[in-house]
Amino acid sequence: MNQSSSHPTTRREFLKNTGRAAAVTALAGVTLPQVYAAENSVTQIALIGCGGRGTGAAMNALATGQIPLKLVAMADVFKNRLDDSYNRIKGSAVGNLMDVPAERKFIGFDAYQKAMDCLKPGDIAIFTTPLAFRWVHFACAIQKGLHVFMEKPLTADGPTSRRMLKLAAEASAKNLKVGVGLMSRHNRGMQELAQRIHDGEIGDLILLRGYRMHGPGGSAYSTKWPGSPSELLWQIQRFHSFIWASGGCFNDFYIHHVDHCCWMKNAWPVKAQALGGRHYRLNSDGKPCVDQNFDVYSVEYTFADGGKFIMDGRCMDGCREIYSSHAHGSKGSAMVSSAGDCGLPSLTYKGQNPDRTNLLWESKVPPGERDPYLNEWRDLIDAIRHDQPYNEVERGVYASAVSSLGRRAAHTGQEMTLEQFLSSESEYAPGVDKWTMDSPAPLVADTEGRYPIPQPGIKKESEF
Ligand SMILES: NC(=O)c1ccc[n+]([C@@H]2O[C@H](COP(=O)([O-])OP(=O)(O)OC[C@H]3O[C@@H](n4cnc5c(N)ncnc54)[C@H](O)[C@@H]3O)[C@@H](O)[C@H]2O)c1
Repeated sequence: MNQSSSHPTTRREFLKNTGRAAAVTALAGVTLPQVYAAENSVTQIALIGCGGRGTGAAMNALATGQIPLKLVAMADVFKNRLDDSYNRIKGSAVGNLMDVPAERKFIGFDAYQKAMDCLKPGDIAIFTTPLAFRWVHFACAIQKGLHVFMEKPLTADGPTSRRMLKLAAEASAKNLKVGVGLMSRHNRGMQELAQRIHDGEIGDLILLRGYRMHGPGGSAYSTKWPGSPSELLWQIQRFHSFIWASGGCFNDFYIHHVDHCCWMKNAWPVKAQALGGRHYRLNSDGKPCVDQNFDVYSVEYTFADGGKFIMDGRCMDGCREIYSSHAHGSKGSAMVSSAGDCGLPSLTYKGQNPDRTNLLWESKVPPGERDPYLNEWRDLIDAIRHDQPYNEVERGVYASAVSSLGRRAAHTGQEMTLEQFLSSESEYAPGVDKWTMDSPAPLVADTEGRYPIPQPGIKKESEF
C-alpha cells in the first residue's frame, strides 16, 4: 500500500504541505464543490463494520492524499472488533488522520445511524459489514446526503437486488458518489485489457474461465454454534457459512472473477446451470460442519450470443490450487487475472496457446498504480472532488445477482435465468432493518445444531 506518513487535515495545510506538485496543479485548475472551498473544510468519514476489510478500506481512504480527510466515527456490533480496528488505524501511517473519541464509537445494530449522524452532507460513509445490512445502511446514507464506499457483494437474493437497484437510482438523483469494492475494475492492467478485448484484439469472445480453488477459507466451514455469543451474532461472525449473511462462499469468494469476466465480455449472462456438492462434512478435527456451503462448484453461464463463462470454485485441502481467470476469442486468448482476484499482469496471445512466443501484449502498470484497493479510493475521491457522476452500485448489484444465480443453480440442480433470479421473491434476511441485539437468528438449527442445506434435485424451488 502506498501510504504517505504526512497527512494534512485542512485544505490550507494540504496545499501548503503537499510535496506533490501535480496534486496542487490539479487543484488549482478546478472549481471545487462548496464542501472543499471552505477554509477549514475536511471531508469526514464514518466506518461501519470495523473488521479486516473495513480497517483496510479506511486506511486506503486516508492514504489517498487528494483532499483533506478525517475518520471521525466508527460503528460495529462487537466492541472488540471496533477497538482492534481503532488501534490498527491509530498505529498506522495514517493514524494522525483519525479523530474518533469514545463518544463517536458506537456499538449495536443501530450504531450505523449514530455514526452517520456524526457526518454532514457530502461526507463519506464506508460499509464493510457482511452484505445483509447493505441496503439498510445505503438507504440511511442516501437520506443523509452522504457519499459511500461499500464492499462487495451487495445482495444475495432477488428482493434485495431490486431494492438496491432502486436505491442506486435515488443516490444518482441526489448526485451522491458511490464506490463498490469490486476492485478489478480499478486494476489499471485489466482496464487496458478490457479496452483491447472490446476493440477486438482477440476477436469475438467465445469462452471465459474463472478459477478460485484452494483450501477451506474464511468462515466458510463452521461447526455447531458454541452457545455464545447469541446465535445471531455468531452467524454474523461466521458470515461465509450462511447464505443470508454473505451469499455463502460462492458469492463472497467468486464474485471478483464473475464480475471481471463479465466485464471482459461486456455483458451479463442470461442464464446458468451448475454442478456442485459437498464431499466432506467433517472439519480437520473430525467435528461435523453445520454451514450451508458446498465444497465444490462449477457453474456454466450462458450469454445472449451463446458464449459461455465457466466459474469453478473449490475449498478443499490436498487438491490442485488454481486462482486465475482466462478469456478465449475467435482470434486469440487472454490471461485476465494471472493470480488471485485481480493479479497483474494481464496478457493477450495470438491463438489459444498461452506461450510467450504467441504474446501480443502484456500490461505495464507504474508502481504507484498497482494497488487496486488504493486506486478504487482515488477514483472515488476524484469523482467527489471534481463532481463527476460516479455510481458503481448497479453493476455491483448485477455482479452480485449473477453470482447468486450461479450459486442457486448449483444448490437446486436447476437451470435458471438471470431474469428469474432478479424477479424471485424469497428474501433471506427479512426485517434486517429492525434487528436488535436480542433478535433471533434468521436461520434456525435443528436439534443437532445443523442448519438447512441445499439438496439439488430434491429442493428445486428453494436453495435450502
Ligand atoms: N474487496 C475485497 O477484496 C474484500 C476483501 C475482504 C472482504 N471483503 C468484503 O468486506 C465485507 C466484510 O468482510 P471482512 O472480511 O472485513 O469481515 P469481518 O468479519 O472481518 O468484518 C465485518 C465487520 O462488520 C461487523 N458487523 C457485522 N454486522 C454489523 C452491523 N449490522 N453493524 C455494524 N457492524 C457490523 C462485524 O462485527 C465485523 O467487525 C464482506 O462483504 C466481504 O465480502 C471484500
